[in-house]
Amino acid sequence: MYTICYFSKVAPDLTDEEIQEIFDHTYHQNNEKGVCGILLHTMGNFFQVLEGDEAYLTDLYENRIKTDPRHHSIFEVIHKAGSDPVFTTYNSRFQTIDNSDQLNEVKQYLQKHAIRSSTSDKLARLLKSFIIFDY
Ligand SMILES: Cc1cc2nc3c(=O)[nH]c(=O)nc-3n(C[C@H](O)[C@H](O)[C@H](O)COP(=O)(O)O)c2cc1C
Repeated sequence: MYTICYFSKVAPDLTDEEIQEIFDHTYHQNNEKGVCGILLHTMGNFFQVLEGDEAYLTDLYENRIKTDPRHHSIFEVIHKAGSDPVFTTYNSRFQTIDNSDQLNEVKQYLQKHAIRSSTSDKLARLLKSFIIFDY
């Protein structure tokens, strides 16, 4: 199992429809390929957690996601081999968190990987921008 987690900034000219296309594509593609995790969008940022096969994930992330012009300024939080995955299904169909189960999974994931907002100022700011993180 491999895991990657990052924040990024949404490209300035992206419309709501274009954001929805990213969500739809990601949801279908990742479910088909057995990738777990979450994609959130709020206040001009994306936050994504990916869990799955190392070869598939690193190729997806390095060659497609990182070079995708629909976002920029990627800030990587985690990029490493992991043990048991935290996410069991891929939920990219929502843009704001309104479900405490999903929220708990994100929290569990960050706790499991010992990610604290105190790790860096930048991370603290990013986590705060996703108001859900009362770290
Ligand atoms: C923020 C963001 C997250 C994305 N996450 C995924 C993802 O998890 N899985 C995926 O297949 N594509 C994802 N994409 C889309 C890819 O960057 C890329 O457009 C897509 O994989 C291209 O697929 P194709 O080569 O089959 O056309 C994401 C794009 C953005 C902007």
